[in-house]
Amino acid sequence: MKTQRRSLTWIAFLFLFLVVAMTGCSQNSPKQLKNAYRNMFLIGTALNRMDILNPDSPSLPVVKMHFSSITPENVMKWEVIHLEPNRYDFTAADAFVAFGEENNMHMVGHTLVWHSQTPAWVFKDVSGEPADRETLLQRLRDHISTVVGRYKGPLHAWDVVNEALEDDGRYRQSPWMRIIGKEYIEKAFQWAHEADPHAKLYYNDFNMWYPGRREKVIQIVRDFLSRGIPIHGIGLQGHWGLDYPPLEALEESINAYADLGLEIAITEMDMDMLPSPGPYTGADINAHFEARKEIDPWHDGLPDSMQVVVSSRWVQFFQVLNRHHDKIERVTIWGVQDGASWRNNWPVRGRTAYPLLFDRNYRPNPAFDAIIKLPVEK
Ligand code: G3I
Repeated sequence: MKTQRRSLTWIAFLFLFLVVAMTGCSQNSPKQLKNAYRNMFLIGTALNRMDILNPDSPSLPVVKMHFSSITPENVMKWEVIHLEPNRYDFTAADAFVAFGEENNMHMVGHTLVWHSQTPAWVFKDVSGEPADRETLLQRLRDHISTVVGRYKGPLHAWDVVNEALEDDGRYRQSPWMRIIGKEYIEKAFQWAHEADPHAKLYYNDFNMWYPGRREKVIQIVRDFLSRGIPIHGIGLQGHWGLDYPPLEALEESINAYADLGLEIAITEMDMDMLPSPGPYTGADINAHFEARKEIDPWHDGLPDSMQVVVSSRWVQFFQVLNRHHDKIERVTIWGVQDGASWRNNWPVRGRTAYPLLFDRNYRPNPAFDAIIKLPVEK
């Protein structure tokens, strides 16, 4: 009887120990990336349709464990949410928001105005000719009010305008620009603010360290601020590679944008680590096996020597970001695991890239192990 009671006490003790250990692990473990960086910035990831609509997706436990912010990689883009005039499809976007709410996550909407992934009807009239300025402005306003209005509250920030500039700072000659002129940018910010006055509104672009683009963004933001146009953040996409951007240029840019007094986020970080495809740009690797060794060299796995190169580069970037953590609101990695990254299919389809922090089996890459050890307390 006595022995039985003692065993029961031990079992109860063991049970209590496990509960305490597991609670500690899930809420505050140094092994969670988001927790390691909790005093630096939010750590985000991008979710794609397969993750959002499949509650059994193996991505989801990784997302819950390591990330504090989420962005939809594609499902809030115009061609998904508003494929036809007068018909919105919020299925996947609603599921994204529900997941974020359930897990108490910071959420970013992506993206309201872009030249890509916008259906052709948006820019046309009924006879197939280019739409006139007033029609396009009205469509833009309806789209923004509807989409931002629907997620007012749960969404914390929006990438309002995406990639409106060229590398040299000229306005990109997108249909938005050709039909409306540069005012489409400020209108988008104004209408997004009207629809959700609490959301942080971002301008988001790549190569934000190019001097031409940087100067133009700064000029636009100063102009907006002087005229009371609501803009709250600058998104540096962070599609960076092994040999670009120069770290000094990145650092200078972070300082220059921070001087504007706006939030800064790295919004779409991943590592361009495959060789430049040269003449095969735009091709499908499966149609060019002769080039596989040269431009898809790690099809069967990444050797340790290359893992070291890739993870050292992640460390270099995070050292810069950590140094400037007081200016940076969030660092979002553009996807969960290597196999799901757009980098496998651009600028050549079907290659095998290793651009993210988790491998194709959802195991942490060496880059993950390296950057989780970096942060220091504020
Ligand atoms: O949904 C269709 C699917 O039905 C079809 O079977 C399949 C066949 O190819 O295509 C699917 O659509 C793809 C879509 O991603 C969803 O997976 C498109 O082909 C593909 O082009 C699209 O790529 C996305 C790309 O934006 C579009 O330009 C990438 O996933 C996404 O990572 C990428 O993200 C952009 C940011 O939004 C803005 N900054 C640059 C960044 C990288 O290009």
